[in-house]
Amino acid sequence: MLRITTQQLIRWKQQGRSIACLTAWDCAIAQLLDAAGVDLILVGDSLAMVALGYPNTLPITLEAMLHHAAAVVRGVRHALVVADLPFLSYQESPAQAMRSAGRLLKEAGVQAVKLEGGYPAMVETVSRLTLAGIPVMGHVGLTPQSVHRLGYRQQGKSDDDAERILKEAIALSEAGAFAIVLEHIPANLAAQISAKLPIPTIGIGAGPHCDGQVLVTADVLGLSDKQPPFAKSYLNLRDRITQAARDFATEVRDRQFPE
Ligand code: KIV
Repeated sequence: MLRITTQQLIRWKQQGRSIACLTAWDCAIAQLLDAAGVDLILVGDSLAMVALGYPNTLPITLEAMLHHAAAVVRGVRHALVVADLPFLSYQESPAQAMRSAGRLLKEAGVQAVKLEGGYPAMVETVSRLTLAGIPVMGHVGLTPQSVHRLGYRQQGKSDDDAERILKEAIALSEAGAFAIVLEHIPANLAAQISAKLPIPTIGIGAGPHCDGQVLVTADVLGLSDKQPPFAKSYLNLRDRITQAARDFATEVRDRQFPE
């Protein structure tokens, strides 16, 4: 099967085919998501929280993202693999972003990068990366790397804020982004942005009218101890893992295992 490309995602938007995205942080999870037919696998910096135990996404380093992204790439044959640029690995200047994104493509082997923020801060950066051949996914609305400024609250509720987010999305698209994550904004705003942009919008907590949806896989699997109100669990892996570990410990203590 051929690798899904950024152009394919844009064609799917034109055809009205919704795009399914999940996050991954290691090879085993990535292999399973890829085999299940997920279109885009995001090595999201949420792995700082769900896999590494940090309280937010800020502490994760570029080195750590490279390590996890390379593991994910080793497990994926078909899906498009996108890695997050971690906090302060790209905000300083387009040159810094180029160096960080270049390492994710060259050393980890991902096909694209994602960065948070919009107009005017990220427009030149997105344009420079795109011109250098590095596909960029934008991310507006609730941007977790700005947690100390915005919290984890829904964004775009007032007319002014909605206008700002729409303007950011348009600017990112015009700068060359191939897709944009819309996180935790009202569904009608996400619908408006999705209708306006030629590139796919990938929603998380942004209602049903986006061109695709993304969730954090730890939430989908029921592995997270806390999850946002818009997440959906399809499984309760926390309970099942705890039970399996309990059963193993009991069998060892009772000398039932090994037989
Ligand atoms: O880091 C992440 O997992 C993300 C998704 C929430 C879109 O950015």
